[in-house]
Amino acid sequence: MAGFIPEEIVEQVQNRSDIIEIISAYIPLKRVGSNFKAPCPFHNEKTPSFIVNPAKQIWHCFGCGLGGNVFSFVMRHEKLEFPDTVRFLAGKAGVEIPLSYEGGIKKQSKNKSLYRINELAAGYFQNNLADPNKGKLARQYLDKRGVSPEVIRKFRLGFALNQWDGFLRFAKAKGESEDLLKTAGLIIPRKDRGYYDHFRGRLIFPILDLQDRVLAFGGRVLDASLPKYINSPQNPLFNKGRCLYGLNTAKESLRGKEHLIIVEGYMDLITLYRMGVRNVIAALGTALTSEHARLLKRYVPTAVMVYDADQAGETASLRGLEILIEGGLRVKVVRLPEGFDPDSFIITRGKEGFEKAVVDGEDLFDYKLGLLTSKYNAEKLEEASRITAEMLPTISRIDNAVLKSGYISKLARRLSINENSLLIELKRIKQKGVSNYQSQRSNIPGYNFAINVKEKFLIGLMLEDFKIAAQVKNCLALDDFKDPGLKQIVAAIFRLISEKKKFSCSQVINYLKDDRASQIIAGISASSEIAGYTDKQGNELSDKKKVVADCIEKIKAESLKQARLDLQRKIKLAEETRDDKKRMRLLSEFKNLIKI
Ligand code: UTP
Ligand code: MN
Repeated sequence: MAGFIPEEIVEQVQNRSDIIEIISAYIPLKRVGSNFKAPCPFHNEKTPSFIVNPAKQIWHCFGCGLGGNVFSFVMRHEKLEFPDTVRFLAGKAGVEIPLSYEGGIKKQSKNKSLYRINELAAGYFQNNLADPNKGKLARQYLDKRGVSPEVIRKFRLGFALNQWDGFLRFAKAKGESEDLLKTAGLIIPRKDRGYYDHFRGRLIFPILDLQDRVLAFGGRVLDASLPKYINSPQNPLFNKGRCLYGLNTAKESLRGKEHLIIVEGYMDLITLYRMGVRNVIAALGTALTSEHARLLKRYVPTAVMVYDADQAGETASLRGLEILIEGGLRVKVVRLPEGFDPDSFIITRGKEGFEKAVVDGEDLFDYKLGLLTSKYNAEKLEEASRITAEMLPTISRIDNAVLKSGYISKLARRLSINENSLLIELKRIKQKGVSNYQSQRSNIPGYNFAINVKEKFLIGLMLEDFKIAAQVKNCLALDDFKDPGLKQIVAAIFRLISEKKKFSCSQVINYLKDDRASQIIAGISASSEIAGYTDKQGNELSDKKKVVADCIEKIKAESLKQARLDLQRKIKLAEETRDDKKRMRLLSEFKNLIKI
């Protein structure tokens, strides 16, 4: 989790960042007993269920289940990655992070000059557009498309003159090297020698990052010539799979919003923006990636794709949808009428018409089923089974059980197939591991505290008492903990014990790979007083020893039982497949197991 910032430094930053001080800079905290309380900043609620515990340096929301340490809070609130969060808090706490951990001085200064050159180019293009003569045609074009000077400024639109080396000469006069211009993708080598401008005679759309720095450019012709758009090539700053056009302008409007709209093009986004729809980003004609999904997930739970009718049918965009789903986003699809794109649709139907279309969007299930039933003939059993083969993996990725069973019945009805046989197929898919979504989920609203009660109880005690943690490490194996999140937590604790480090809940969190595990441990720690492991003065319960021994015993027994069942299943399978050698091996394993 710590990226390339060493653990000692992470710890130092953590020690100097008081969680109450940091969190109360974002939301007003009220002292209630040994905790501080507030309405949760991460979900809508009226009665506060968000608590911060200063002694443990953790936070947890009993409403939505989110939680963690000071880093997890800032990460979520500032939408930063872990290393950037550490840097952010290091800055506040006055901890210096040695430059050698900053990804190398060389790389940094190279990136710095790329930002500089991009900024120079953006300014140059903007000036061209503003120039009474040089920018006249381009301004007329934008005006025709309804883009006002104010919107031009907001998106820093520009114009590349129709010259071979306008920018090249400008940049060289400023002392910039051809090498750098080439790396930035602003110039292209000529066949013989020298260079020429990449963007010529085009309207320029700078692509900005979340800090409004210029990463790259898109350029559109002013007439019908081809290619219509060109973009900067990938470069050290610009990676298509990571950037989303307009996220910088959208991000403010996303606070508290349920959904974000994804469109294809620069102009779609700009027109939506000027018509007052601001929670929108553009994918710029590239396939959506899991990095995109991760990025978006930080802002909203739902993505609404609004693509034009023909494009939406493409398998590429379907794959994009599945990637978003796998990233834990809910997905809706709006299919616009033939011949429309979001730009022309909102212009003809107005903001209200557009918003209605968004509300009426189909969920992925309906959308995909619609596509498949128009492609295959569901009357024929063989074609119907093709439809199920494509639908079931999608259904298996859906994480809500009620929704899932609803979809199964719906699919069964639509295809006149027996519901049970669909369920059997679904199970098969699960076993093959088509969906590893479960383990990747990052947060669980309404987290169910009833599962793995004993394991959780024990982890709570381990966190409070080093002796108990050591005892557990002696008596139980990692595999005795079945839940992947709990396993991660216990692994971190075991590791800290082996390294003879003192630990607390808020420190263990730094060693956890996924969000879900952090949330679980924060939940455990936040609930421990309530559950009554210790009394209010922190005195040990008199029968704590017995409770611990009891827990260990039960977890061990449960784990053994599970192992026996697993072996029995495997033995049966070996019998069925007449694999005698395997059967014998498993049998002796089984005998050993029951000896214990
Ligand atoms: P579209 O062809 O739908 O363009 O491509 P558009 O956004 O509607 O633009 P206007 O309305 O004609 O001005 C969608 C997106 O695909 C990428 C661009 O990012 C574009 O915005 N694209 C398209 C390219 O990169 N190159 C192309 O030649 C065409
Ligand atoms: Mn268009």
